[in-house]
Amino acid sequence: MANIDSSSRDGFTSKFGVIAAAAGSAIGLGNIWKFPYEVGNNGGGAFLLIYLFFIVAIGIPVMLSELMIGRKAQKNVFGAFKLLAPHKAWRLVGVMGVFAAFLILSFYAVVAGWTLEYVYLAVTNGLANKTPEEINNIFDVFMSGKLIPVLWTLLFMLLTALVVLGGIKNGIEKYTKVLMPLLLVIIIVLDIKALTLEGAGEGLAFLFNPDFAKITPQVILSALGQAFFSLSIGMGVIATYGSYIPKSQRLGNTAISVSFADTLIALLAGIAIFPAVFAFGMEPAQDEGLVFRVLPNIFNQMAGGSLFQVLFFLLLCIAALTSSISLLEVIVAYMSEELKIKRRTATWATTGFISGLGVLCVLFSSVFGAFVFISSNVLLPLGGLFIVIFVGYVLKQAEVKQELEAHGGRFNLFKVFIFIVRYIAPIAIGVVFLKGIGVIDLIL
Ligand code: TRP
Repeated sequence: MANIDSSSRDGFTSKFGVIAAAAGSAIGLGNIWKFPYEVGNNGGGAFLLIYLFFIVAIGIPVMLSELMIGRKAQKNVFGAFKLLAPHKAWRLVGVMGVFAAFLILSFYAVVAGWTLEYVYLAVTNGLANKTPEEINNIFDVFMSGKLIPVLWTLLFMLLTALVVLGGIKNGIEKYTKVLMPLLLVIIIVLDIKALTLEGAGEGLAFLFNPDFAKITPQVILSALGQAFFSLSIGMGVIATYGSYIPKSQRLGNTAISVSFADTLIALLAGIAIFPAVFAFGMEPAQDEGLVFRVLPNIFNQMAGGSLFQVLFFLLLCIAALTSSISLLEVIVAYMSEELKIKRRTATWATTGFISGLGVLCVLFSSVFGAFVFISSNVLLPLGGLFIVIFVGYVLKQAEVKQELEAHGGRFNLFKVFIFIVRYIAPIAIGVVFLKGIGVIDLIL
């Protein structure tokens, strides 16, 4: 993979391998940590409805566009734009993606560090037999300690670097295939328990009954940002994976399966968390600690809960790892393929730098918050906007069609896809973005 010559690039060995790795990138803290926290802070059901609409109408087409760009070019994002785009300015989309990867990985490693702490707490019985109030305090005390969150962040970055150095095939494919289905099973067990708690109905109502009065431009932008973040789209991760997909595989199926799996996990996480939030008398709108303050209470009421708790946080951590490696991979692929830096050197230098930013995120919650907001709600939507414009207007439609139909297969939805990519997605992203950050209000 260090080579620029595409014939010697590493690839995936099986069809399931690609879907598993792309799903591994998509499924992560975004589904289980960020999604519930966004739903809670943005009023519940109405946010969910808009989120689901964005996944289908914008997320899937953007994912397909990205897969297509990557596979056509057989290169990392930056190299792909360099090869396919007529004008140099398009390379900035790749640069923006690499920049987004830095920001995302910095706070991502911090939250992944929290999951490591919770694995530790669960193993040492630190969460068992505690009241909801005590569980709540445990998170606050942990966060105020600073040093321990920093150490976990560094450990997580180290793990990420070690997997990335192992290369695509051995590193990624092996883990995701078995572990993600197992995570799904545990979440379903959690759901069942959560749904039988007294007061669960109120949580379900919060999640599924839309209250349209709660919709504001900011809520809509957050839903768009969350859709992009959760699907790992808008900055080149998926394009990089696309470049590893064999030419014989149909990309439309990949985009749909990955998006479906990702959305399912987020929904199931919500179905565990909100019933519990109301059953334990907590508030749905909370800080970033939401899942860590809520979920241990469900495990504590479950037969065999301690074991499930250990497994859950461990698998969550692994889900975070299969996402973080995709982020680090974007940066490393760029540095090694474009800047000709050795993979090993690129990996360690990037890991060191991001660890530094991660420490800043631990020390200053404003930095943490800014990184989350700027990456999800600014960089990813803008990246997605440029990607659809590129596929809709810059590439020749016949080329796009050919790449999507891969070796004689048919892509029946091509007309729908092109219509969305040319008209719906650019306008929708543009309006939601400008309105959400307040630019439209300034002008009108
Ligand atoms: N989608 C991942 C999650 O939900 C996070 C992630 C991995 C990501 N790679 C990305 C987000 C690229 C945006 C872009 O946890």
